[in-house]
Amino acid sequence: MPLWQLSGRNRLSRPVKVAAPGSNPAGTRQNQGGNVKVAVLAEAHPDERRVALVPASLKELLKAGAEVTVQSGAGAPASISDSEYQEAGATIAPDAASTLEGASVLLGVQPRPEGSGPGDLGGLPKGTVVVSFMDPLGSPERAKAMADAGLSAFAMELIPRTTRAQRMDALSSQATVAGYKAVLMAADHLPKLMPMFMTAAGTIRPSKALILGAGVAGLQAIATARRLGAKVEAFDVRPAVKEQVQSLGASFLETEEDVTAEGEGGYAKELSEEQHRKELELIAAHIHDADIVITTAQIPGRPAPVLITEEMVKSMHPGSVIIDMAAISGGNCELSQAGQTVERHGVTIMGPDNLPSTIPVHASQMYGKNVVTFLLEMVQDGELVVDLENDVVGPACLSHGGEVWNPRVRDTLGLPPLPAPAEAPEPAPAPAEPGE
Ligand SMILES: NC(=O)c1ccc[n+]([C@@H]2O[C@H](COP(=O)([O-])OP(=O)(O)OC[C@H]3O[C@@H](n4cnc5c(N)ncnc54)[C@H](O)[C@@H]3O)[C@@H](O)[C@H]2O)c1
Repeated sequence: MPLWQLSGRNRLSRPVKVAAPGSNPAGTRQNQGGNVKVAVLAEAHPDERRVALVPASLKELLKAGAEVTVQSGAGAPASISDSEYQEAGATIAPDAASTLEGASVLLGVQPRPEGSGPGDLGGLPKGTVVVSFMDPLGSPERAKAMADAGLSAFAMELIPRTTRAQRMDALSSQATVAGYKAVLMAADHLPKLMPMFMTAAGTIRPSKALILGAGVAGLQAIATARRLGAKVEAFDVRPAVKEQVQSLGASFLETEEDVTAEGEGGYAKELSEEQHRKELELIAAHIHDADIVITTAQIPGRPAPVLITEEMVKSMHPGSVIIDMAAISGGNCELSQAGQTVERHGVTIMGPDNLPSTIPVHASQMYGKNVVTFLLEMVQDGELVVDLENDVVGPACLSHGGEVWNPRVRDTLGLPPLPAPAEAPEPAPAPAEPGE
């Protein structure tokens, strides 16, 4: 999963309150019999061990007047039994189809691939609110399919990185888990100890870690490598992180000439060719000494920058380990392969594609909190209210009312911008009730 955020203000996060399809077209409430009926399915992706809702967060939904149905076994990969969900107040349904019966909301971790059975795009009634990661820029055609299916889709990647939305920021919560796990993987594959040991059998020098990209995952990787006793160096093109890196006990690498690229919303932007060359020189001067390298560098909506060349890998000691956390969005190391572990020039290069799933208990606990906090933004007095004026709901909206809603995704799909509020079309008419 790429860890990026779409930048730019949603042009439709303007004062427009739109009724969800399936509701009274003149109103603003998606009232499904006064209840919010939430469905949680077992994740469709075979390697996904997280679950979108854990019992503790489920209780918050119930307090808000929601009903929750969980597919039997959905929590098992995250060590949550059906009976724990039941004790928390959920109904357990035997299969996906019965879990979805009457549901107004589907919560997930990953988007459900088409053809994966009930819960995929074709299987959900119009107006269903779907909340999960959706890879909106990587798979914009999914947004189009969801709009065509009349779904109100909300992408966890699109939740704004604001102070108010911190409790809903699943990119951050999952990056925290991933940054931690990357260091454990590196330590596990390293033929060395991480901390310094002073023993009767001699002194063991601490291992050296180099962390490239000090965003959420990188800072957690620094903290974890420090806890394991490594000597840590780090670099990021955003100078603002220097203090954070140092406060974790790591050294921040600096160039004589400026190599910074701070973009919109505090995110990185692409370096100029000249600056990129200088950055590579800086990394080359430090990487040959590093036992482990963790790379996390990403540019929102762009392929990940190449920071480690083959020449650099050749310069490293045999047995060193590179964990390329950006492998899935192109890779920070030119030799890494997404989802694979390869050995090149004696160096182990890993390109994990879903680290949070490898720590499913706590990754689900954090994700569940994020997703429920977000959903509660759309619950008022026990009713589902899709209010696109809301400063979190609006920007997170991917499709609604039969339209792709996010301006950058529209642009990627070659769709024209949506009309200004005054010209906005009436919401789609309510579909027939089941059985009508
Ligand atoms: N609630 C909040 O206010 C909040 C929460 C989380 C994150 N944020 C902000 O989000 C941003 C980071 O988030 P993220 O971790 O998802 O980022 P990210 O995953 O998009 O990128 C990871 C890191 O890679 C860095 N990077 C990009 N190109 C690089 C290069 N060529 N060389 C070295 N490093 C490079 C980026 O600066 C970033 O720190 C920061 O601006 C952070 O302050 C804000």
